[in-house]
Amino acid sequence: MKKLLVTGGAGFIGANFVHYWLQRYPADQVVVLDALTYAGNIANLDSVKDNKNFTFVHGNICDQSLVEALLVEHNIDTLVHFAAESHVDRSITGPDAFIETNIMGTYSLLKAVKKVWLDADTVLEGHRFHHVSTDEVYGTLSATDPAFTEDTAYAPNSPYSASKAASDHLVRAYHHTFGLNVTTSNCSNNYGPFHFPEKLIPLVITNILHNKSLPIYGDGQQIRDWLYVEDHAHGIDLVLQNGRIGENYNIGGNNEWANIDIVKTISKLVEQEFINNEELAKRFPGAIAAIEKNTESLITYVKDRPGHDRRYAIDATKTNDELGYQPKESFETGIAKTVQWYLNNEAWWQSVMDGSYQNWIAEQYS
Ligand code: NAD
Ligand code: TYD
Repeated sequence: MKKLLVTGGAGFIGANFVHYWLQRYPADQVVVLDALTYAGNIANLDSVKDNKNFTFVHGNICDQSLVEALLVEHNIDTLVHFAAESHVDRSITGPDAFIETNIMGTYSLLKAVKKVWLDADTVLEGHRFHHVSTDEVYGTLSATDPAFTEDTAYAPNSPYSASKAASDHLVRAYHHTFGLNVTTSNCSNNYGPFHFPEKLIPLVITNILHNKSLPIYGDGQQIRDWLYVEDHAHGIDLVLQNGRIGENYNIGGNNEWANIDIVKTISKLVEQEFINNEELAKRFPGAIAAIEKNTESLITYVKDRPGHDRRYAIDATKTNDELGYQPKESFETGIAKTVQWYLNNEAWWQSVMDGSYQNWIAEQYS
């Protein structure tokens, strides 16, 4: 039975991980520590809030004494670290928060676990610090480059990926220098329920429903590898169960898409939903999908993101071979589920978006 401290558990991937974990391991204890920034929503944890094995703590990962107290009070043996500033566009206009949370916050967590797990009279056997990182630390690929492996040299290009790379290195150093039991996973772009609608996939779904333009940065030929979020949770589970201490594991979907093709695919899917379900035209009367089948006309090419990475691709051979990892969802099933989720959870996405972000980003890319 594990006792987990999950940082950032009220965010997109963290919340999905908590749902996954409590369903799969109902006897485990899960404590979530989350600062509830704009990206964190307590509503993401509604379905587990009455579970007696679940505790929510509103607090900051930079608060080392709070983290130490939580580790002791809840006898935590496993820390799964999701908390981060995660949006590349925000890291371009305001890098400070990324340095503070992603670098200083991770450092603060490492100091806390070292003090409680390693520096006490007896070292806590079987402790684990799992760090959730990204494929973006490896930089960018050309169309013909081989996919990133765990041996690819780090070459981050945005303040976001640079801050994640720095945190990965600190985690590694705490293993090599102090003997902390760490693992790190580097995952590709996730999508699925509770994805904050500033990121490409939920932004496109919600903008279609509001009849707003679908902004394509640059030529729209940038490639990302997309993974359904529950498959990420499953990958982390396998790393926690059987990953070798001190190792990095790539997690990916083997599912590369150009941005423009993603947007066109979602446009078609939403249109089909309007054909299948007449209620939708009543709920979203302004949506072009309700009036004429021409959703792609909302596509608007805007100026490119500064330093925009061209292509990410994950080679997950090590994770597949060592841990038996395979994504369960295909892109077709995962994106269909995701579109359905956004159609069924309008109250959620209306409540998390107050419109100010959309106005701000429209100014940046006009
Ligand atoms: P998110 O932005 O949706 O959620 C981040 C969560 O962290 C929020 O709940 C927020 O309130 C919390 N948080 C932020 N700063 C905090 C602080 N100082 N103290 C405590 N809590 C804080 O992010 P996400 O998309 O769920 O990503 C989670 C992790 O996975 C991040 O580390 C990210 O780098 C990594 N990752 C994300 C993706 C992706 O596609 N989204 C892919 C690979 C890796
Ligand atoms: P995003 O979801 O922000 O994830 P990341 O930058 O971490 O990969 O963006 C995914 C891709 O979509 C990326 O190449 C940028 C592009 N993009 C757009 O073209 N338009 C948009 O409005 C957004 C948010 C992203």
